[in-house]
Amino acid sequence: MSQFQAPRGIPDYYPPRSADFVRVRTTLTEAARLAGYGHIELPVFEDTALFARGVGESTDVVSKEMYTFADRGDRSVTLRPEGTAGVMRAVLQHGLDRGQLPVKLCYSGPFFRYEKPQEGRYRQLQQVGVEAIGVDDPALDAEVIAIADEGYRRLGLSGYRLELSSLGTAADRPAYRALLTDFLDGLPLDEATRARAQINPLRVLDDKRPEVRELTADAPLLLDHLSDESAQHFAAVRAHLDRLGVAYEINPRLVRGLDYYTKTTFEFVHDGLGAQSGIGGGGRYDGLMAQLGGKQDLSGIGFGIGVDRTILALAAEGVAQTEPPRCRVYGVAMGDAAKAELVVIAAKLRAVGIAVDLAYGDRGLKGAMKAADRSGADYALVLGERELAESRIELKNLKTGGQEGVSLSNAVEEIRLLVAEIEQGI
Ligand code: HAM
Repeated sequence: MSQFQAPRGIPDYYPPRSADFVRVRTTLTEAARLAGYGHIELPVFEDTALFARGVGESTDVVSKEMYTFADRGDRSVTLRPEGTAGVMRAVLQHGLDRGQLPVKLCYSGPFFRYEKPQEGRYRQLQQVGVEAIGVDDPALDAEVIAIADEGYRRLGLSGYRLELSSLGTAADRPAYRALLTDFLDGLPLDEATRARAQINPLRVLDDKRPEVRELTADAPLLLDHLSDESAQHFAAVRAHLDRLGVAYEINPRLVRGLDYYTKTTFEFVHDGLGAQSGIGGGGRYDGLMAQLGGKQDLSGIGFGIGVDRTILALAAEGVAQTEPPRCRVYGVAMGDAAKAELVVIAAKLRAVGIAVDLAYGDRGLKGAMKAADRSGADYALVLGERELAESRIELKNLKTGGQEGVSLSNAVEEIRLLVAEIEQGI
């Protein structure tokens, strides 16, 4: 083993597992593309204040988990812990909100949080996210949720639940917060929990410890104290989801880890994953634009899906990719002249879309044929001095063992036809 290791808490993805990485990313972004979301590529680090203000100083993400450092010009920058604040920054900076609304954007890539590493909780995490900015319409909330649901389904997942709630508007909260604080003040909570309640009393309701659950069983719930407008909004989102056939459970205690949420909030939870069961989540964030200095208070709704955890969910459900990548054709050349010819044939086959690998190095015919078998290819192309002299190439069906000679000048076309037959299942 080399003396170097990947930084603590950061997974590497390599074959065969990396096939799932690519599959998750492309399937989810395709689901978003089909609903009109355009790709946005953003910096991996930004001004620290963007996240402090956007995500919220009281959150664990900002107060404990950011990778923050001074660059060589002594500016404080932070590796992005999430994507929404950066998307909103870009929308404002480039005036995208002056065009057609909603602005629909999709992104994917790494995010960074200095968390305590464990299975499913990493310091470099991967997300696919969407944001729809500029329109507050419950149908759009339902669209965003349905895209995630469709993406998971296309991946073959079924063992997950959608938890749904509403956090109301900023105006709904002070009265409720006072009510909840009064209730919590009357409970025998430990010091640490009391301190958390001071920062955000809502977080105490999301505490998973049974003793805290029991104490807060009769706590007042925000869902019962929404303004009429927020309650109607939430009812409309639910009605859209019902019509779309997207199943959900109302979780009135759902508290998301970021401060910007208003109204609709949701989390996709997979029961096969143990403690780190959130495979994706999001919600509406109607106050974020103003937090970042936007002139108007543009609303937004989006999700971030955890690619790492979705891959774990695929494995938990037994639908993960376990086969190593394989080529259709494996080329075996004996001698330099044959190899020179086969390298060109391989390039021509690749140019017509056929995956080809070659036996490199000098392993002798037996070793190279063994490599061909192990490669999982359907065909071996064998070219030696004798075949070359006779302008033909041997094509061996590695599944049946059958072998035939093909004229060198015709090899690319013949193989193309054979592969097409295999692909059509003939
Ligand atoms: P989030 O809930 O913080 O939301 O993260 C979204 C997803 O990223 C989580 O559900 C989880 O699957 C994954 N994730 C988060 N932290 C880790 C970690 N340490 N290791 C592995 N996976 C992790 C957001 O980031 C919001 N920006 C989502 C959003 C977009 N809301 C509105 N628009």
